[in-house]
Amino acid sequence: MRPTTTPPTIRLSDYKQPEFWIETVDLHFKLHPTETRVRSRIVFKGNTERTDGPHDLRLHGQDLKLISASINGTPLKDDEILIDAEGLTIPGDLVPQDGFIWEAEVQTNPQANTSLNGLYMSKGMYCTQCEAEGFRKITYYLDRPDVMAVFTVEIEGDVPVLLSNGNNLGNGKWHDPWPKPAYLFALVAGDLVSYDDHFTTMNGREVDLQIFVRPGDEGKCAYAMDALKRSMRWDETEYGREYDLNLFMIVAVDDFNMGAMENKGLNIFNSKYVLASPKTATDRDYELIEGIIAHEYFHNWTGNRITCRDWFQLCLKEGLTVFRDQQFSGDARSHAVNRIENVLQLRARQFREDAGPLAHPVRPEEYIEINNFYTATVYEKGAEVIGMLRTLVGADNYRRALDLYFERHDGQACTIEDWIKVFEDACNTDLSQFALWYSQAGTPRITVTEDFSGDTLTLTFTQTNPDTPGQTNKKPQVVPIRTGFLAADGSEAAPEQLLVLDEALKSFEINGLVDKPTLSLLRGFSAPVVLERQTTNAERAFLLTYDSDPFNQWEAGRDYALDLLQDMILNSAEVDPAFAKAMRAVAVNEALDPAFRALVLSLPSEDALAQAIFEQGTAPDPDAIYAARQTLAKAVATELSDDLQGLYTELATPGPYTPDAEAAGKRSLRGAVLSLISHLEDDCATAKAQFAAADNMTEQLSALSTLIRHGQGDAEVQAFYDQWQADRLVIDKWFTVQVASAPADKAVDVARALTQHKDFDWKNPNRYRSLIAGFAMMNPAGFHRKDGAGYEFFADWLIKLDPVNPQTTARMCGGFETWRRYDASRQQLMQAQLQRIADLPDLSKDTAEIVGKILN
Ligand code: PHE
Ligand code: ZN
Repeated sequence: MRPTTTPPTIRLSDYKQPEFWIETVDLHFKLHPTETRVRSRIVFKGNTERTDGPHDLRLHGQDLKLISASINGTPLKDDEILIDAEGLTIPGDLVPQDGFIWEAEVQTNPQANTSLNGLYMSKGMYCTQCEAEGFRKITYYLDRPDVMAVFTVEIEGDVPVLLSNGNNLGNGKWHDPWPKPAYLFALVAGDLVSYDDHFTTMNGREVDLQIFVRPGDEGKCAYAMDALKRSMRWDETEYGREYDLNLFMIVAVDDFNMGAMENKGLNIFNSKYVLASPKTATDRDYELIEGIIAHEYFHNWTGNRITCRDWFQLCLKEGLTVFRDQQFSGDARSHAVNRIENVLQLRARQFREDAGPLAHPVRPEEYIEINNFYTATVYEKGAEVIGMLRTLVGADNYRRALDLYFERHDGQACTIEDWIKVFEDACNTDLSQFALWYSQAGTPRITVTEDFSGDTLTLTFTQTNPDTPGQTNKKPQVVPIRTGFLAADGSEAAPEQLLVLDEALKSFEINGLVDKPTLSLLRGFSAPVVLERQTTNAERAFLLTYDSDPFNQWEAGRDYALDLLQDMILNSAEVDPAFAKAMRAVAVNEALDPAFRALVLSLPSEDALAQAIFEQGTAPDPDAIYAARQTLAKAVATELSDDLQGLYTELATPGPYTPDAEAAGKRSLRGAVLSLISHLEDDCATAKAQFAAADNMTEQLSALSTLIRHGQGDAEVQAFYDQWQADRLVIDKWFTVQVASAPADKAVDVARALTQHKDFDWKNPNRYRSLIAGFAMMNPAGFHRKDGAGYEFFADWLIKLDPVNPQTTARMCGGFETWRRYDASRQQLMQAQLQRIADLPDLSKDTAEIVGKILN
């Protein structure tokens, strides 16, 4: 047994360049399910900037059996190599300081690797995942992103397809001409088939495109391929970025911890973000496939050609690449609808994180396990920061800055300081205060007061920057506030302005107004802040009708619903009939995009309400929240009762299914209408008929979910299973819909029973998440059952998964991050479960770090 030691905290302030660089790496794989052999030949060069030598050679390595090693051809003896759990050390006197050739052979066991990091097996297929620190499970190496090398790979194995990065030299040999950090290395081998196409770049380079899947899945690749080609063209036209190899490959794997991975020339995807057919994928799946294909492709420039110096700089590639994929999806679909969806996500995940014990800056300053920092803050808030920068400098300056970024830093491993400096130089501006967005955690809170006299409106803003774990007394940040001014007839009384709030308190004057305008503040959600503002329902109804900014139009309805629901929950208020009327006006307004109308009709989530109530100083009651949403939905349905059947008929999308935004928008509104209709029917006849007739997964699944919610879906649950039992991705949905839609008092029992199902293959992350996260995150009233049964069930499964897959376990612990919102009894029950996890003797460092923070 290994002695247990506390894992070290890694700090940004401790960064040092490596003692050695690596120029080239030759890898030879002899694949075997349990005894894979990896031979490496690595050309090291001394780093002349590290004058503090002589240096030992310290290489990362984990779960490796070292067979042999040599330096410059001289074999190292056992007592010349110090091996520990994290790597090996060769004493400096055996290491030529200005450079040498390292050769080694190691053995690994892919089949035993359930962590899904390093080289592992998924249904007979060999597959790698190296970001962030998985390469050290493949061979001994300097596994850090600032060490970039040229890789040549040779693969031997008993399977027909052998893939790695770069150009195919034939016979399992690959060469990648672009120097890269080890985290971008990939190898895939198996019985795979490819779906092929090609692309001609803007300068006439011919690129072969291949999507590799398991035999039988070839028919589900067309949409991903189409999205890939559109992404490649978009990056050329919008950023001037051309692809840089003759081959681009995507592989779909069933066992994957995350969404997808941008390995150079060989992206590896969770199969749920590649495979789609109308019958098996929902509109939302299509949208996610498009966005994630684009995201990984865009990493080729923002991440791969320019990479991160160290893992603290993760947002350098992730924030920028998310921003780019959001721009792309907005161009491909609807900017208005996409923006609303992105902000909904941001609030649900990032604001939640920022308000709790796991809050951290977009660029964190320390970590124990880097895998725990692939967070909503790094990704989504990281993207918001770039959006603000673009708003502040303008689209043209933004493009010039990006050109300079690519020109100045191509081939380098960079920092956020490099990024900021590019903007300062290209736009001739000082961004030192703006840079606080990268270092200060927490969501700024903004208030505003209005004063109108003569022809002048004076707006006075305040900002407070709340304390977060380890950070107090923060400085004011730069908050761009796009503001519109509406006249009584709904027209713009004055041109929109960009008000830049860069102090704790600041006033702005708008002159030349005839009457006091109605304000439209923070248009397009121009900064990731909480805007607190006293306003009237009449004003909200006015903005919902007239605001020319679709985000704020939607936001007005959302604020209205949030306030009303809180009033119903906390003060037993009746439903405000004016709210239902306002919803009806939007629902039947044919001038508005159906997708937008659907978003307006969707009520704030149970979790959003819980957070809002907590912020008012009251412990949220999950059952009361659930009930209030039901009551309000029923009131809206009643108000719309004469319109619903007509809408339902009109919104049908006859003919063959197409996944485009227009058709998807209609189905989305039709789904919302179906859910309203079901509040008025005792027998759910419309949902039953829709389920029976559906020829696409969007309509089949929305019908099923509605039926389960109303306790009428038993036969359909069975029928759905019978129809889809051979399709893993659809069966994931089958698990989720049952736990997410189950009535609160039955949800734990439903979840527990489903864990006994023969198809509950819990070591598969998609399957595990579909049931366990589906229960804990998508059924708040069920999860928070008063007696704590939900907490215990959830903790049992976290404990079970941790030794098998620490990374996914740690991510899922976020289900407990809001425990301090609730009443004393629930808090105690959750704390007890968290403590039970924390006390486990062999808990992974991943889960220990997260649970430790949640408890503190
Ligand atoms: N870098 C991947 C992405 O965002 C995410 C990822 C991180 C995948 C770690 C696997 C492991 O595109
Ligand atoms: Zn990414």
